[in-house]
Amino acid sequence: MDLAAAARVLDSGFNRMVYTSHFLNLLKPMALAKIAAHDLAIDARAIRASLTFRQFDDLFTAPLHGFTSADDYWRRVERAVADERSILLAAESDGAVLGTVQVDVDTPPNQPHRASVCKLLVHSDARRRGLGEALMVAAEEAAAAAGRWLLVLDTATPAAERLYRRLGWTVAGVVPDYAMNPDCSLTQTVFYWKALAGRAPAASPRSAPRR
Ligand SMILES: CC(C)(COP(=O)(O)OP(=O)(O)OC[C@H]1O[C@@H](n2cnc3c(N)ncnc32)[C@H](O)[C@@H]1OP(=O)(O)O)[C@@H](O)C(=O)NCCC(=O)NCCS
Repeated sequence: MDLAAAARVLDSGFNRMVYTSHFLNLLKPMALAKIAAHDLAIDARAIRASLTFRQFDDLFTAPLHGFTSADDYWRRVERAVADERSILLAAESDGAVLGTVQVDVDTPPNQPHRASVCKLLVHSDARRRGLGEALMVAAEEAAAAAGRWLLVLDTATPAAERLYRRLGWTVAGVVPDYAMNPDCSLTQTVFYWKALAGRAPAASPRSAPRR
């Protein structure tokens, strides 16, 4: 699977004229505000001049999240999928990807039964039709098929939280100021867990506090 090539399709033909330019117009002011607020060593003029997702991601998104380029991110996801450290699922219609979710099974040796569900994303034009729910159900099935029955995830999105609660996920807790919004404000993140197939995790004894 060539994820980088798939990302390049967004920057070509009709997509580039309509979707890319519209979305970049929304993203650029947020990026410029973040650069100014945090005095980031990112070239604001080049951001303003960027015409494709590739250019924008290379200049802004990738370095901000610790990647050398957009390709670097996609190659890492590809490698994780190829190495079976991650399961990547996509909802497709007429050859277009409408949504995606990842199941991260790259856990330490003492957590062979656990996986993290992450990067659930449905295209804004395809929301509120049940795709998010279908992707989550598929993610749970994929995790179960991989022998993982205890799942965790985190979110800062109320719409996603309603979905998770509907599917039987339980809140583990809330961490204030956990993640940064595009406007640089900090937001709380809610952590959820779910045990599959009716498996209730056994209450494990806590070690006594040391004096
Ligand atoms: C969160 C997200 C994945 C939900 O995807 P979605 O495809 O809209 O999810 P669903 O369609 O399954 O459910 C969304 C709502 O549509 C409703 N719905 C589902 N099918 C419907 C239908 N046929 N007709 C009308 N409403 C419908 C659901 O009941 C749900 O309602 P609620 O929000 O009031 O609970 C999507 O909004 C998204 O990508 N957001 C941005 C990224 C994000 O925040 N991801 C989560 C990261 S943790």
